[in-house]
Parts: sequence; C-alpha cells; structure tokens
Amino acid sequence: MRSHTCGELRKADAGKEVTLQGWVDAFRVSGKISFILLRDRTGITQIFVNKSITEQLKDLKKESVIEVKGKVNARPDKQVKKDMATGEVELEASAATILSMSEVPLPIELEAETTTGLDKRLDYRFLDLRRDKISFIFRVRSRILAATVAFFEKEKFIAIQTPKVTASGVESGAEEFKFSYFGKEASLAQSPQVYKQMMVVSGLEKVYEIGTVFRAEKSHTTRHLTEFTGIDFEMGFIESEQDVMAVLTKYFQYLTKDIKENFKDELKKYKIEINVPKEIPQLTLDEARKILKKHNKEVPKDDDLDAEGERLIAEHVKKEYNCDFVFMLEYPWAKRPFYHMRPEGNNKITSSFDLIYNGVEIATGAQREHRLEVLEAQCKEKGLDLKKMDFYRNIFRYGCPPHGGVGLGLDRITQLMLGLGNVREAILLPRDPERLTP
Ligand code: 4AD
Ligand code: MG
Repeated sequence: MRSHTCGELRKADAGKEVTLQGWVDAFRVSGKISFILLRDRTGITQIFVNKSITEQLKDLKKESVIEVKGKVNARPDKQVKKDMATGEVELEASAATILSMSEVPLPIELEAETTTGLDKRLDYRFLDLRRDKISFIFRVRSRILAATVAFFEKEKFIAIQTPKVTASGVESGAEEFKFSYFGKEASLAQSPQVYKQMMVVSGLEKVYEIGTVFRAEKSHTTRHLTEFTGIDFEMGFIESEQDVMAVLTKYFQYLTKDIKENFKDELKKYKIEINVPKEIPQLTLDEARKILKKHNKEVPKDDDLDAEGERLIAEHVKKEYNCDFVFMLEYPWAKRPFYHMRPEGNNKITSSFDLIYNGVEIATGAQREHRLEVLEAQCKEKGLDLKKMDFYRNIFRYGCPPHGGVGLGLDRITQLMLGLGNVREAILLPRDPERLTP
C-alpha cells in the first residue's frame, strides 16, 4: 500500500519516510544518478535516485508502474517556482520496485500538445486519459453530472429510470436501432419522451432522467454520437413553454456557477472561460432568418437552422447581448415531432424551442399537446396513427395536465462548456457509425 499520494506531499512532511506508487512520467539518467517524475491522479513528485538504485532501474520505461520508498526533502523555493508540476518537495529514494513494466514505444504521444490524431487516441483512450488535460474533461463531466442531480433535487424533481428496450418511440423512426426481442421487433430508446410524459401524468408532476439514449444517425459530424447520455426533464401544470425555459435558465445559471467555482485554477491553466448567464436572450426563428439574411444565408420558412446558422446566430447574440446562450423559438411544424403543441391560431409553428450554447444546439424542448383530439389530428397530419401507440395514447385519456419538458445531452454540455471542437472529446468511449470498439 502507498502511505501517501504525490499531490498531497507538502513541506511539512519533510523528514518523513513515505511509500509512493504511480506511473513513471519521466526517467532521466544523469551520469550515475537519476531522477524520476512519479505521477498519480493527485499530481507529480520528483524522485532523486542514487547510484545503486539507478543501476537496478536502468531499463525502466516511461509509463511503467513502480513503488518507491524514501525520505521527503523540501525543495529550495527558487526551484519550486520554476517547476510547479513537481511540487514543494522531492523524495530521496531508499528502495524502488517495478510493479509493471510498460512496453515501448507507446502507441500514442502523451505530451500535453500531442500530434496523435483523435481516432488513434480513442483507440488507446486509457492511455490518452493519462494526460491531465484529458482527465480534466472527465473530472468536469463528473461534476456536471453531480451538479445536475443536485439542481433537480433542489427543485423537487423526482429522478426516474425508464426502459431503454422499447417497442417504438415517438421521435423519428428512421433513427431507431431495431433488434429482435424474443421474436418481436424492438428498438433502443431514442429518448425517454413517452415515459417522462407518462410520469408527469402519473402525479409525480416533475420528473428528470439521466440515462443512455441511442440514435441510429449515420452522421459523421463533430456533434453527433449514436449513443449518448441524455438529461431529460418534464413538468406538469405549465402555462407555456416559457415556464420550461425558466427552469432551463436556472439550471444553466446553477451549473456554470458550480463548475466555474470548482475548477477555478484548472480553467485558468487551460484558458477556458465559463460565463454565468444573467438571463438568456430569446429569438424567434423569423428574427434569426432576418439576421442570417444579412450574412447572405437564406433559411426557408419551413426549415430550421443548420450548424452554420446556429453558429452565426450565436456570434450575433454574443456581440449584441454578451451571452453564450440563446433560446430559439417558434420552430416550424414541418421540423418538429407530432407531440409538440402549436400556438392558438398558427398551425405552421410549434410552441417549442432550442437552446444554443457557444454556437451548438444543446437542448430541445416544447410544450406538449395534451388534448387527445388535437394530438390525434396532429398525428394524422404527420402520417402516423396514434391508435398504433396505444400506451402513449392512454396517457391523455384519464386526466392529463398541460405539460412540457426538455431533452439535453450531457456530452454536448461538457463539449461546449469546455470549448472542445468535437463531442467525441467529451465522452470516454464514443459510439458513432464507424466506431464499435474499444
Ligand atoms: O433535440 P433532441 O433530438 O430532442 C429530443 O430528444 C426530445 N425528446 C426532447 C424534448 O424533450 N422535446 O435531443 C435532445 C438533445 C439535443 O439537444 C442534444 O444535446 C442531444 O440531445 N443530442 C445528441 N447528442 C449527441 N449525439 C446525438 N446524436 C444527439 N442527438 C441529440
Ligand atoms: Mg433537437
């Protein structure tokens, strides 16, 4: 067992005999003696290795796992300032054991600024994660998850877990992964949409789910995965989609503040700026069309924004309102699923919205149509038959409050908050049309 970790050793420990275990970050032989930078998840400690132990370790390779026993020595202040990574102290080794020798050469570069391509890095993700810059992403992601749970609990939402093996969903059927389930055709859930609505109607009223969702999208973009972590919430007794947007605004105020405060030093180190939104500006799609026209970009009436449109609108909002977020409203009926409500007197648009963060959609939400006759008619308009989705139809038959909700992606939130160019950077082991391993 190790008695200490690298990162916790302080000047006050000088003189103590300690045992450290970790990875060899670097091994430098200098004449007959040598230095090891030993790394564990808490930090890096420099180890001074005398002549006889250097002789014993002479074949040591970078990334091997070793145990070192030795005495803690304070490092001169001048040296510490020069070389922060190696801390206030160093260890004078009295014994060293190689626990697991690493092979050479390493299949990917582990320098902070690696030249290894993303694909290769993902093939060796467990090695890629040995870089602090990469493990930082997942420390933040972990905290986003924790803060999300804390927020929804604080707001008295109830956590639900719903089936991922389903008969069929209510999102676009083309994106379903179908498989055989004891002789029946089944699909992997594309969202918990049906179930979260069901649980509002059940009387739980305000529910949230954080779970895996699957999309058989053959998209090769920097924002699409075929398996990702959805954050969904749904709430009853709303007046309009604005009530849902108010919760979403509060959520992002809470989340950005939490991450900003918890990772102050690292955000500074990696030059990442996170801003807490005071309020989030709203634009209708019509307003967005006018803005985009000035950029020589035409968006037809029944179309929504593509990736470039979202980016341009985000730039405009950043300039005009100094905000990283923008709500887009009034999406065309042609582009939204049948369950979105339409405002009174306008059949062409829906009471729905997208939330764009740093130029990319991270959330879609809406008020849902809760009146069965209207829902059935909307279904017909889309060429679907609600009678074939009996259990979904039933939700609206025995007292269904007006309600609405949102679907978000944890992967995209992490990506956009940290300014990562590709959503694959924000998920440990991405699944896309090409990638099924590791
Ligand atoms: O916009 P989407 O498809 O909306 C729904 O799933 C609705 N049921 C939501 C609702 O309550 N009305 O997905 C919601 C969010 C997106 O904004 C995005 O953040 C993420 O899920 N997302 C993806 N993330 C990574 N890869 C993909 N292929 C994604 N598809 C959606
Ligand atoms: Mg969407």
